[in-house]
Amino acid sequence: MFDKLLYIETFGCQMNVNDSERIVSMLSELGYAPTNEPSCADMILLNTCSVRGGAEEKVYRRLANLRIYKRDGKKQIIAVGGCVAQQEGEELLCKLPYLDLVIGTHNLHLLPGMVKSAENGERRSETTFIDNEQRLDLFPTIKGESRLSRFVTVMQGCDNFCSYCIVPYVRGREISRRSSDILAEVRTLADEGVREVILLGQNVNSYGLKSGKEPNFAELIHKVSEISGIDRIRFTTSHPKDMSDELIECFANVPKLSGQIHLPAQSGSDAVLKLMGRGYTRSSYLERVARLKAVRPHIVFTGDIIVGFPGETDADFLQTLSLMESVRYIDIFSFVYSPRPGTKAAEFTDELRREEKMSRLGRLMELQRLITKEISKNYIGHTMSVLVEGVGKLPGQISGKADNGRIVNFTGDVSNIGRFVDVRITKAYPNSLLGELKLS
Ligand code: 5AD
Ligand code: SF4
Repeated sequence: MFDKLLYIETFGCQMNVNDSERIVSMLSELGYAPTNEPSCADMILLNTCSVRGGAEEKVYRRLANLRIYKRDGKKQIIAVGGCVAQQEGEELLCKLPYLDLVIGTHNLHLLPGMVKSAENGERRSETTFIDNEQRLDLFPTIKGESRLSRFVTVMQGCDNFCSYCIVPYVRGREISRRSSDILAEVRTLADEGVREVILLGQNVNSYGLKSGKEPNFAELIHKVSEISGIDRIRFTTSHPKDMSDELIECFANVPKLSGQIHLPAQSGSDAVLKLMGRGYTRSSYLERVARLKAVRPHIVFTGDIIVGFPGETDADFLQTLSLMESVRYIDIFSFVYSPRPGTKAAEFTDELRREEKMSRLGRLMELQRLITKEISKNYIGHTMSVLVEGVGKLPGQISGKADNGRIVNFTGDVSNIGRFVDVRITKAYPNSLLGELKLS
């Protein structure tokens, strides 16, 4: 029975999106139904990201705005979760008197109890790290959500400590879930009608390597692909240094594996990659890309790039642009370097001027726009297998994702939702494709 409303805003990566799904599921058992309207919510939760400075400040600004809803005398719980919560902890409660709850990245299982206390006026912060396997047993599951495509967490945390990155500090050590639990979850999802799973983790490629007790990631993919009912498998995020030959072979041998891979390069310059502590070189990255293209000819790449890392020269930056031309990503997430307190790179002194960073970002985005346009244009006339996930933007349209991850809209009947259909592409937009249903 729902008698209360919950408003969640999610910032940052897919881990947070997935955690928000867990929060909605857990709090539904306390009678909270999700709402899109903060003003009428009984509880407001910001699931935060601290990967860049801007994102953090955005959270503070947003919290300041949300305050107004608490002023009119209405009892409303205000909570902060995610990476800013983990980083700031109790401090947030001290700084923001209108805040009720701070919940860290390893403590989601405590949230129902904390919400009950908050309903009785108690303010609490829980940010204790759990850096052993107990974390996995406490990890709440998502119940009762029916969708065709679902995330399945395979590992949590990160041990890589790239010099610019806050994640290992706010998400803790890398721990892989037991494969038996992962496979049981995928089987349950398949029984519930899920057709696509997205295997999720900060660095899925190193799945199972640390404990040695579990299969490696390539073996896990093979096992997932044997589960009937699941017809498409995707994964994110990959670290290029752990992109093994065996994993690359999966793109040849596992037809259910989607033909899209997110493989963040961060930079195309060896000097910068070294300072970033990434553990690969430009040429070893490009060699992995070439192998992937050889085993799966139409594979689509997406990636992350940081511009303006301390000490990045114009020549380094040109190396990044040339790497982008070689890989030909369909899309990239590009970020201006932002020093994160506590990380190694925050101590580097040769930070670039903001105007220089912004100018490089502009040049990079312009190049990517052209590449995206060219790749997309080439899809016109091709037929793609699309998993229909829902209605499209225009009346009479339905929409889904192609094997390569592109969104495809086309005219068709809603009875196709949940099916794989063949669609001929007729028009290309920057973020989606338009097509027509091929009748079999
Ligand atoms: N500054 C800018 N971008 C960053 N990222 C991580 N840390 C920083 C930082 N300090 C980017 C990386 C990563 C993505 C999730 O965020 O590109 O892959
Ligand atoms: Fe951050 Fe590097 Fe770990 Fe990715 S691999 S989460 S960039 S430390």
